[in-house]
Amino acid sequence: MRKEKETLEELGQPSTGRRRSQINILGALLSIVFCAFVVFKAGDRLSLNLLNFDSIPRGTIGRVEWHKCNYPTETGVDCGTIIVPLDYFNYTKGISIIALGRYKATAKKRGTVFLNPGGPGGSGVSLATITGKFFAEIIGPHYDIVGFDPRGIGETLPKVQCFPHPIDQHIFRANTVFEQGFSVSSNLSDPRTREHLIEQQRQFLAMKKTQAELCGQRMSEALPYMGTATVVRDLFLMTSMLDDHHALINYWGGSYGTILGAYLVNMVPDRIGKVAIDGVANPVLWADKPSHYWHREWISSIEDTFRWFLRSCSEAGPGVCPLAKEKNEDPNAIDERILKFLDLLYENPLPVPNARRPGYLTSGGARGDRIYAIGVATKIDELFIVIALIMIYMENPRAWPRLSQILASAMAGDGTAMLNNLLPVYGASGPDLSFAEDLARLAVTCLDSPPPEDESEFPTPELLADIGLETIRDVSKHFGMSTTISEPDGGCQFWPVRGPERFTGPWNHTLSNPILIVSNTADPVTPIASGRLVNKLLHNSSRLLIQNSPGHGSMALSSLCSIKAIRAYYDDGILPQNEFVCESEEQPFDINRSYISTLSETDRRLLEAAEKISEALAESRLRPWLAYTD
Ligand SMILES: *[C@@H]1O[C@H](CO)[C@@H](O)[C@H](O)[C@H]1NC(C)=O
Ligand SMILES: *[C@@H]1O[C@H](CO)[C@@H](O)[C@H](O)[C@H]1NC(C)=O
Ligand SMILES: *[C@@H]1O[C@H](CO)[C@@H](O)[C@H](O)[C@H]1NC(C)=O
Ligand SMILES: *[C@@H]1O[C@H](CO)[C@@H](O)[C@H](O)[C@H]1NC(C)=O
Ligand SMILES: *[C@@H]1O[C@H](CO)[C@@H](O)[C@H](O)[C@H]1NC(C)=O
Repeated sequence: MRKEKETLEELGQPSTGRRRSQINILGALLSIVFCAFVVFKAGDRLSLNLLNFDSIPRGTIGRVEWHKCNYPTETGVDCGTIIVPLDYFNYTKGISIIALGRYKATAKKRGTVFLNPGGPGGSGVSLATITGKFFAEIIGPHYDIVGFDPRGIGETLPKVQCFPHPIDQHIFRANTVFEQGFSVSSNLSDPRTREHLIEQQRQFLAMKKTQAELCGQRMSEALPYMGTATVVRDLFLMTSMLDDHHALINYWGGSYGTILGAYLVNMVPDRIGKVAIDGVANPVLWADKPSHYWHREWISSIEDTFRWFLRSCSEAGPGVCPLAKEKNEDPNAIDERILKFLDLLYENPLPVPNARRPGYLTSGGARGDRIYAIGVATKIDELFIVIALIMIYMENPRAWPRLSQILASAMAGDGTAMLNNLLPVYGASGPDLSFAEDLARLAVTCLDSPPPEDESEFPTPELLADIGLETIRDVSKHFGMSTTISEPDGGCQFWPVRGPERFTGPWNHTLSNPILIVSNTADPVTPIASGRLVNKLLHNSSRLLIQNSPGHGSMALSSLCSIKAIRAYYDDGILPQNEFVCESEEQPFDINRSYISTLSETDRRLLEAAEKISEALAESRLRPWLAYTD
């Protein structure tokens, strides 16, 4: 009895007084529930004694089923489901059915490695079924590679669906700040710049509130159970069912998947097997601060990425990067032309009559000599801000030649390519009129971040505008106000529910096995500072591998050194020295990639695997946008 209670309190980790009393009440209720259902075996060393597998009614919780996927797959791939309790603190609340995708081990199985592609909102099932065999190249043949759609997401039930029909959500967003982004004059000293931004924030807040109320009306029964702590419990249960009740948990996570990874290793530190996190976000910030305070830190490396873009464009020259006038042109000159183009657009929106969906490159709002956010219409119903589009491209250096082409055409007066060819390198499978990913993301972030005590803590439009202006001033002159579009967080003060628990650390546990942390030197949205922070907190329970390259996550550009380090970790249990630095073979704008011909067949396969994974990750993260490309 005593043991269970300690365990639950340890897991609840309420941070504030009010939450603590709620959790304690829950904890008390829970001990009653657990008295009835849970009997621990002597000698169990589990820190997360969530479930007694003997007492759970057979045929329901924990039941796993595998079947053929309902789309063509490689051999060795199947799809499935596992039934988990909707609420781990009250089994009578019902169930959730988690969708699974698996690529089976091709050699003697040592366990399961679970995947999370990021988001939150990305589908682990499609990542595993599409790229499982590529993960197997990197992780090795001894693991089942299992992707799952986390709570609220993809094929998992219940699914976040707040609008009556996806079309309604579509219309709701059309021509609003959700589509157009925030337009900010570069004249930050002009008081009208701030006024205009405040006006836009008012619309933003009203829209967030509308969405939250819809979610409350349609989804409130299911919404409390989508937070990251609940997903950690799912990982625990899944490992127990797919491996065995005492198995260590193995995991790979990118982007938001690194947040899930940090929660995992700190919630169940003594059940950690092999865990690698790549493209690391700051879990402390995530759990401790509302989301309007996140972006400033997230983009702390993005100007480095953008300078890398300009520099490599200049080195490549106009043949590959038409933004450059000549080979080795001063990168600042390229930057000046881009900014000047944005200024011109700001004064005179550019008509684009020949796009699939006719539209115009536009800017909004106040007078000024430069702007940082510009709306452009894409082919179906979606508006893009140019600078947010550039920001999204910053994550994927392999697409920089394409970015330079469409931007150069627009600068030459033809916006058609920009409207028609958004990120086509990643392809997509036809229109999916669902923006549910946006709201699935909020369903996670709004349970993870601290809720305001009362309305006096709600961020005002003025506060949000000031945070944005400061970020432009102090952190990123190009991208300071664009993150809200590429990372659609915010408005959690309106969210209709709270979860049964919220994990807020500590983040410095000693783990049963050390984990691998991978960060790029110039990652536009998950800066190396966050990788260093998680590394420092976990101390010798982790090693940080640094890849000296731009892009989001280590696979955004090829580095055999990094790939082999990841493989050595999963396959042979060998960790690199802390802060070991890997260089990339692949350089941005290196379209011929002549280095490939010098590689062995094995190395080539490793690089190909990483590239395929990177494409799938980008696609899963950018699904809301990519749904409209062909
Ligand atoms: C568990 O959930 C059921 C159904 O919603 C509810 O009636 C019951 O009061 C809950 N029990 C606890 C301990 O919260
Ligand atoms: C910025 O705005 C202020 C106030 O309106 C004005 O005095 C100043 O000339 C503007 N600066 C530029 C570079 O346009
Ligand atoms: C872990 O962090 C907590 C604060 O969150 C601190 O009190 C504790 O001393 C730290 N433990 C170690 C081993 O550093
Ligand atoms: C990790 O550090 C702790 C405290 O500094 C030490 O007790 C422990 O032996 C170290 N473990 C390893 C594997 O180095
Ligand atoms: C790439 O290859 C093409 C043809 O093979 C060649 O014309 C071009 O110069 C090469 N470009 C670079 C940047 O090496």
